[in-house]
Amino acid sequence: MSEKLLLRALAGETLATPPIWMMRQAGRYLPEYRATRAKAGDFLSLCYTPDLAAEVTLQPIRRFGFDAAILFADILLVPQALGADLWFVTGEGPRLSTIASQADFDALKPADAIHDHLAPVYETVRILARELPDETPLIGFAGAPWTVATYMIAGRGTPDQGPAHALKDENPVLFKALIDRITDATIAYLSAQIDAGAEVVKLFDSWAGSLRGADFDDYSLKPQKRIIAALKTRHPDTPVIAFPREAKDRYEGFARATGADCVALDNSVDAKWAATHVQCDGCVQGNLAPSHMVTGGSALVEETQAILRAFRNGPHIFNLGHGITPDADPDNVSLMIETVRKGL
Ligand code: CP3
Repeated sequence: MSEKLLLRALAGETLATPPIWMMRQAGRYLPEYRATRAKAGDFLSLCYTPDLAAEVTLQPIRRFGFDAAILFADILLVPQALGADLWFVTGEGPRLSTIASQADFDALKPADAIHDHLAPVYETVRILARELPDETPLIGFAGAPWTVATYMIAGRGTPDQGPAHALKDENPVLFKALIDRITDATIAYLSAQIDAGAEVVKLFDSWAGSLRGADFDDYSLKPQKRIIAALKTRHPDTPVIAFPREAKDRYEGFARATGADCVALDNSVDAKWAATHVQCDGCVQGNLAPSHMVTGGSALVEETQAILRAFRNGPHIFNLGHGITPDADPDNVSLMIETVRKGL
């Protein structure tokens, strides 16, 4: 049995103290991250400079001793590798060239042509596989196809993913072709991360919650099922975490339907409900509200304990329900970790 707590929980073991890590654990709330980002010049240069990307991945491990590291990169590197233009506007977020027509789609590269562009990411993984402490596994990741498509179609983040819904409804042939291209690229990308040393991979479907009914099945569930099946053929021992954020009642059965080893819960999910309806199928991850990392105090401690209590009878990885925000206080992160490790 592995010494790594994260891998034990992912294999289905119920642990007295769950492993803990945090989405966006390398980020702007840490002064050492801001210093390394300044050295890189901008966010994308940080992603594509292996020594610096490895450095920011290691910073939260050194400071807090988390039970897992997550590769420093971004879900939007895949569209860029497929040929989209990508840039980040400070204070606003990502911007991309858009996919609105068949001609835009035809200009994209084939899925197996992404690797030259993404070679620096694989190098970051190789550095981390060497430099991480023995007890700390590395999580690789990618965006799930629907979420990546929403950015490629709109050219930016949108509150309701309106442009992606419109293309799906008005030109389903083009929309499906785009989902398939992203799916194939994601299989190639995650497979290469595993070959380079990632021990777990996670799929981020941040906008799964805006898909309803059959659309949820067709564009969140099925593409992830195809990715997981392909990865399991090539890398049967590498666990996969799926994060269909805001899937609500569709969290139920999601692991079974996709083959994921663990489902990550957002903080809108009631932990007691999830213990009965989701954890019955295996490991769950989550789901403290990120706002507690800003506000701290007894509410943080009580809510952390309530989550530990709800999930104590099955495999659980403690995490936030979404990424930590730049205004968070690192002392509150320490308080959360202390509360988890002290136990109930
Ligand atoms: O979790 C980690 O620490 C690993 C690294 C990671 C980043 N982005 C770094 C990042 C991961 C796993 C992501 C995933 C990601 N990126 C998602 C899915 C998860 C989610 O948050 O829902 C999405 C939708 C993106 C796209 C993206 N990247 C947006 C919308 C933004 C701008 C918003 C923001 O927080 O500034 C980014 C930028 C980004 N990605 C930052 C980081 C640390 C902030 C960049 C900076 O330093 O200015």
